[in-house]
Amino acid sequence: MDRVIIFDTTLRDGEQSPGFSMNAMEKLEMARQLARLRVDVIEAGFPISSDEDFEATREVARQVGTLDGAPAICGLSRVGLGDIDRCWEAVKYATKPRIHTFVATSDIHLKYKLRKSRAEILKAAEEAVKHARAYCEDVEFSPEDASRTDFDYMCDVLDAVITAGARTINIPDTVGYAIPQEWGQRIANIRERLKRHEGRYVLSVHCHNDLGQAVANSVTGVMNGARQIECTINGIGERAGNASLEEIVMALRTRKDFFGVDTGVKTEELFRTSRLLSHITGIHVQPNKAIVGENAFAHEAGIHQDGVLKDKSTYEIMKPEDIGRPSNKLVLGKHSGRAALGSRLKELGFDLQPAEIDRAFKKFKDLADRKKEVFDEDLVAIVTDEATQTPETYTLDYLHVLSGTGVVPSATVKLTRAGQTFQDSGIGDGPVDAVLAAIDAITGVKGRLQDYAIRAATSGKDAIGEVSVKVDFDGTVVAGKGASTDVIEASARAYLNAINRLVQQNGQRMKEIGP
Ligand code: KIV
Ligand code: ZN
Repeated sequence: MDRVIIFDTTLRDGEQSPGFSMNAMEKLEMARQLARLRVDVIEAGFPISSDEDFEATREVARQVGTLDGAPAICGLSRVGLGDIDRCWEAVKYATKPRIHTFVATSDIHLKYKLRKSRAEILKAAEEAVKHARAYCEDVEFSPEDASRTDFDYMCDVLDAVITAGARTINIPDTVGYAIPQEWGQRIANIRERLKRHEGRYVLSVHCHNDLGQAVANSVTGVMNGARQIECTINGIGERAGNASLEEIVMALRTRKDFFGVDTGVKTEELFRTSRLLSHITGIHVQPNKAIVGENAFAHEAGIHQDGVLKDKSTYEIMKPEDIGRPSNKLVLGKHSGRAALGSRLKELGFDLQPAEIDRAFKKFKDLADRKKEVFDEDLVAIVTDEATQTPETYTLDYLHVLSGTGVVPSATVKLTRAGQTFQDSGIGDGPVDAVLAAIDAITGVKGRLQDYAIRAATSGKDAIGEVSVKVDFDGTVVAGKGASTDVIEASARAYLNAINRLVQQNGQRMKEIGP
């Protein structure tokens, strides 16, 4: 059976869209999970775009790209030779490095964006691929805005770059304009036109979701000969996003009878990967999102429930276990020990070191003291929170809040920094506002809350509340998250997490303005 290469661009195309930015540590955490998911290629960043992205890509190449059975680590680059040099400097540490170079080829982009002729672009593409090939064998080329590019001209460019050494030809529907039937035909026509190169290159598709067709276009690409799909976890990406990895992988797997292809993805890691990304970015998928949404496996209608109870196959085309979705059953209680926690975490797929289990156990005990029942979802929340911790400059020591009808909400907060404790208080138009005012008074940093979201990790009145915030610190927007059964405390932790991330990003300046 033919194998489709899964090229994950969560850390590049996904990350570059507003609200989804990740720091180097978060990218590394995500890349480790993508390796566990067994994607074939991780596009880790666009190294020329910033020093931070360069470093993040380099660290992914060094630390994830050298693991046993690691995926290829790819960096994006425009066709400028300096861009390619910089890209190589970042990815060269990986066992399997890849350079992905691109240039727009549609007349609209040539005229308004690049102000170059078709001939100039063709030459630049060819030169870029030759330059990249001097560094490594694995070179990918994309004609940006391919779906709106003149077909004959695009094929001339593709012919030239394959001759120059490109081994993957990626066709992007950059603006999400294509419709499945027409897109499939375009992919088939490209294959036909490049017949003389058959066997020398892999044809790839990269679809955006502006018209909601990204997954349909991607799988239609496969039906017409594409053997690589570029996609992102939870479908994150520019504007309406990229094609969603989990939807593509499960469509190919569930309908293997129709598509007749395989992927190497370990589908049991899909749910965990989706949750980790939501946890890192603070942006959750909608409940009805296919595969990983809260309701994706919930049967509400009586007639459906009746059918499922009699036989699951009546209404279920996939099993929750296939994507590693934890059951929502009660798993552990207050008296459960460290070994029981460790073994349940192992069953959930978390392979933790003894020190990590110790930390998770402490959090579990705190939680079990507050909450009668601890569910799988709670454990996932504890462990993903632990995995994505930012080094804590400030830690929350104490919080007291006065709020209710007819009182001015006020809060007293104690924070520790480098062994010293600081206390202050604040008032606000609600308890959260008061707590944040008290934190501002201690840290001396004034943040403006741009976004605030709260969600329950599980059902029940005593569920863990997960708070995600986006805070504007004088033009620098930083995301933060916090979890607790007390939603005011979770809010304080989320805000403090954003401050700690700001300190990490901007260490020196913050050292000067902190208390
Ligand atoms: O959408 C697009 O065209 C891209 C390219 C860089 C492949 O992301
Ligand atoms: Zn894209």
